[in-house]
This record gives sequence, C-alpha cells and structure tokens, in this order.
Amino acid sequence: MANPKIAIIISTTRAVRFGEKPANWIFEIASKRGDMDVEIVDLRDYPMPFFDEVATNAWAPTQNEIGQRWQKKVAEFDGYLFVCAEYNHGVPAVLKNALDYAYVEWNRKAAAFLGYGGVGGARAVESLRLVCVELQMAPTRTGVHIAGADFMAVWREGKPISELAYLKSTADAMLDELVWWTNALRAARART
Ligand SMILES: Cc1cc2nc3c(=O)[nH]c(=O)nc-3n(C[C@H](O)[C@H](O)[C@H](O)COP(=O)(O)O)c2cc1C
Repeated sequence: MANPKIAIIISTTRAVRFGEKPANWIFEIASKRGDMDVEIVDLRDYPMPFFDEVATNAWAPTQNEIGQRWQKKVAEFDGYLFVCAEYNHGVPAVLKNALDYAYVEWNRKAAAFLGYGGVGGARAVESLRLVCVELQMAPTRTGVHIAGADFMAVWREGKPISELAYLKSTADAMLDELVWWTNALRAARART
C-alpha cells in the first residue's frame, strides 16, 4: 500500500512568524522515515475570511472559494501534524478559522501536535486536541514541545532546533504514533 499522506500545517501566518522553523525541522525528520509522504501546508496560501457560511460543510456546501480550495487540500491527506503556536493560552485564530472551514475532510483521520512557546504551546495543544475530537479526528498522545529557554534560544538567538537533541526521540515517538493511527484509520475508512 502507498504511504499515507500527512499534512504539516503551520498554525500562524504573520510576517515574522516563528512557525516555519519547527515545521521545516519536523518535515526533515518525517520525510526521511520512508513510511509517510509529508507536505507542509501553509495557511498563508489559504487567506480565508472569518467564517461566514450558513453552516459548517457537514450541513451545507461552503460558498467561499478559498474555503472550497482549503477543503480540497485538507481532503488530500490521511493525517495531520499541527505545528501550533500559543496565543493567549489558546490556538491562533487563523488556525481555528481554518479548522472551522472544513468538517467532513477532517473526519476519521489522525492528528499529532508540535507546540512551541513559553510552555511549549502545551495549553494551546491541549485545547486543540479537544477541537480535533469534535471534528472527529483521533488526536495522538505524544506531543513535541519546544519550551522555555530552548524556545527562547531558537527564537531569539537562532539556535538550530536540531541541536536540541532530546527533541528527536520525542519527535520519533510522535511520528510513530501518527503513522500507526493514520494507517489504522485509513484501513478502517476503506472498509466502510
Ligand atoms: C498575540 C500573541 C499572544 C501570545 N500569547 C502567548 C501565550 O499565551 N503563551 C506563550 O507561551 N506565548 C505567547 N506568545 C508568544 C509566542 O509564543 C511567540 O510569539 C511565538 O513566536 C508565536 O508563534 P508565531 O511566531 O509562529 O506567530 C504570544 C504571541 C502573540 C503574538
């Protein structure tokens, strides 16, 4: 069977964002494994307005053209890895809006998490897990969190994330779980 397709979704879009650094780091690790096909999906390429549809696309087709294009993109993947910032202890609004813009495309697929910030984006990631459950995704256990002085060293001083050696084993565990659940759910979706 072909490798499952995994989207690495960057949660922020601002001009000076940090988000692409951890996205590129985990992309390098994931793409070398050989058991998944990964693609970075950048919300900058999908500048959707704030959600203003008559309903979620579980109930009514989305009218906004960028929203439709976004839904098609989400539908391409078997699983998702959210690279998640923490804005005021929550998920960045641009990511929440993008999550709201699809429904059926997320359903019955696995989701994993890489957070960054003062506490590694842990509070945002925990709330994101609950959002994923409502969208009928299966959130996985192990998260990668770039936190505290390490986050500051990468963010402010430009230290490469690859020099934080302890993160690699956590990244491997996170990706192991993501690929296991992605394959399990892909097989289950194929049966129904
Ligand atoms: C609006 C805003 C709110 C923030 N709130 C938090 C926060 O609650 N916890 C935290 O650890 N960092 C917080 N930060 C700092 C971010 O962790 C840091 O700026 C990070 O680089 C944001 O991700 P981004 O650069 O990809 O946008 C906040 C930053 C912004 C811009």
